[in-house]
Amino acid sequence: MYDSDNPFLNGNYAPWREEGEAYDLEIEGELPRELNGALYRIGPNPHFMPAGRYHWFDGDGMVHAFILRDGRAAYRNRYVRTDGLKAEMKAGRALFGGLIEQPREMSPDVPPFKNAANTNIIGFNNRLLALWEAGLPHELKPETLETIGLYDFGGKISGPVTAHPKFDPANGDLLFFGYQPFPPYVTWYRAGRDGKLLETRAIESKIPVMMHDFITTDNYAIFFVCPSVFHIENAGQGKPLLIWEPQHGTRIGAMNRHTGDVKWFEDEAFFVFHFLNAYEENGSLVVDGCRMKALDMTGTSFGGNPPMPWRWNLNLKDGSIRQNQIDEVSGEFPRLDERLAGRKHRYGYFAGGNADERTNEPGFQALLKRDYQTGKLEQHTLGANFAPGEPVFVPRDAKSAEDDGWVLAVWYDSALNRSEMIVLDAQNFTGKPVARVKLQHRVPWGFHGNWVPAVEVRG
Ligand SMILES: [Fe+2]
Repeated sequence: MYDSDNPFLNGNYAPWREEGEAYDLEIEGELPRELNGALYRIGPNPHFMPAGRYHWFDGDGMVHAFILRDGRAAYRNRYVRTDGLKAEMKAGRALFGGLIEQPREMSPDVPPFKNAANTNIIGFNNRLLALWEAGLPHELKPETLETIGLYDFGGKISGPVTAHPKFDPANGDLLFFGYQPFPPYVTWYRAGRDGKLLETRAIESKIPVMMHDFITTDNYAIFFVCPSVFHIENAGQGKPLLIWEPQHGTRIGAMNRHTGDVKWFEDEAFFVFHFLNAYEENGSLVVDGCRMKALDMTGTSFGGNPPMPWRWNLNLKDGSIRQNQIDEVSGEFPRLDERLAGRKHRYGYFAGGNADERTNEPGFQALLKRDYQTGKLEQHTLGANFAPGEPVFVPRDAKSAEDDGWVLAVWYDSALNRSEMIVLDAQNFTGKPVARVKLQHRVPWGFHGNWVPAVEVRG
């Protein structure tokens, strides 16, 4: 379809531009009746061939919703109608540049970047929000996926909002931050479950970095300042905006959520895209995430720096760090039973196995389940032609124990060039899937998604 040698425009990275809906999808197995709601997924899907060199992070956000009810499944997908995409639709061509290249002909009346609205999608305040870390969220209608517009927390936030906010399990508060290439580089926010902004605080990160994720505990918000450094003076100079500068090392700031005081920890340079969770134990902060030795944004593989499961133990008394790699299997897109966000967890779910050795479909080969108590690692695979995206854990009910529920993920079948949404029983992780919901087309490799129960979905 595309003769480009750009890996982000080929295979299952290639855009899927049809929007539509399908009812009564074919199901192999049986969907649990408890799964009453929607799995929303989002990812980049360039509507127009970019003018400059395309990077995966640049593509227009498309939402894919798997709506489950009474053992039946429907599907709907739609682009987020950002102002940028609407302008491009009107022009009939790409108007914006991307992360690694700006277009040759810039229109004087458009900014260099558009809000791609492509990274994560959450249910919050009875709304559906599509997130992108360099701008404001977009609010969508949960049932039709129509775009309502930018969501600015009642006019209180105008700057960027991370794509990885956390929910405080104690009260439903939204805990989040924004980062930008000019001071203040990092700003912490807290909003009530009703969307009212309750707290804003600047964090002194010293250098402007790309900070994709952070992590919280009951009493701390933890910011990893990895040295992927912005150089906005390079804009328009044909040089990269983001440079890996290991000489800065990585600094970890633990902000006391009550006082705002930040304790800093120093380490050698490394990079983290995503954290699994963090919790407090014996005067330390325990942080689980996926650690890379360096950041390489040039290819679809991890450039010899695969993300490895890592645990940091940050001693709040003496400022020391103890850390260890959990095991030898690489993985990304770590997800938790989020009722335990900020509290001690036992299990983590990942998409894993760096697929460098596979012929034409970079990506993951397996879903992984880690038991941090016993060290046990379980793996679910479906054959060489199947590759999964991010796993999303859904508890059986509000009172069920950790890990008592299902792991939902969209898998791509390269043999049929189609995708399936597959439900695993988390406690029988290696067993046969509970249900396989089949589409007649593929869902391009995307980033993140979340389960939103039907009771929280508003039309
Ligand atoms: Fe992410």
